[in-house]
Amino acid sequence: MGVRGGFVTVEGIDGAGKSSHLDFLRDRIAARGVEVLVTREPGGTPFGARLREAILAEPTTVLAEALALFADRAAHVESSIEPALARGTWVLCDRFSDSTYAYQCGGGGVAREAVEALERLVHPGLQPDATFLFDIEPTLACERLRGRGAPQDRFEREQTAFFERVRAAYLERARDFPRRFHVIDASGAPDQVREGLAHAFSRAFP
Ligand code: TYD
Repeated sequence: MGVRGGFVTVEGIDGAGKSSHLDFLRDRIAARGVEVLVTREPGGTPFGARLREAILAEPTTVLAEALALFADRAAHVESSIEPALARGTWVLCDRFSDSTYAYQCGGGGVAREAVEALERLVHPGLQPDATFLFDIEPTLACERLRGRGAPQDRFEREQTAFFERVRAAYLERARDFPRRFHVIDASGAPDQVREGLAHAFSRAFP
């Protein structure tokens, strides 16, 4: 069997701007001479795309939300992420389980133990090799979201207090897993953020 691919995730609250840096990360990874699969959660498989629509459009209980997100993740890991890593392809994923800890546990109050149990069930032994966390004040993130004029999904309409809790949960994850997490200050201009990301990438993959 050949060398497994690397697994890289990006995280952050809505409006942190993480998605706009995905191409840069993909290029940095590809420069290592490897194949890269760029994907996202929720919605990384055809089944997941249907779930994504339901999850983003239809309010439900937070536990139902967490379970639906892990149903999406189960399909994604088994049919897409694991096969790619096994054949040596690197996987760059826009959000993974840290999002569930941040949004459903930190933001929504689901017990951390519940998500830990789901992780053990859905992706035992699989964790990202590096996670780039785009960190920003929720008030600034909200301004950006309003500025961009795109229709907000229902998560984005949540109150700033919710995003304060989500952000705090992300930062707690970063403290708990300091080797995996790379926290990037996302409050500056795109070029500055890009520079921070480039440094973090070099530290993660020297
Ligand atoms: P995303 O597509 O990253 O939205 P954006 O491009 O606007 O950042 O994510 C969609 C929403 O799903 C986002 O508000 C966060 C939420 N989400 C969770 O609440 N828990 C999760 O586990 C995941 C993967 C996403």
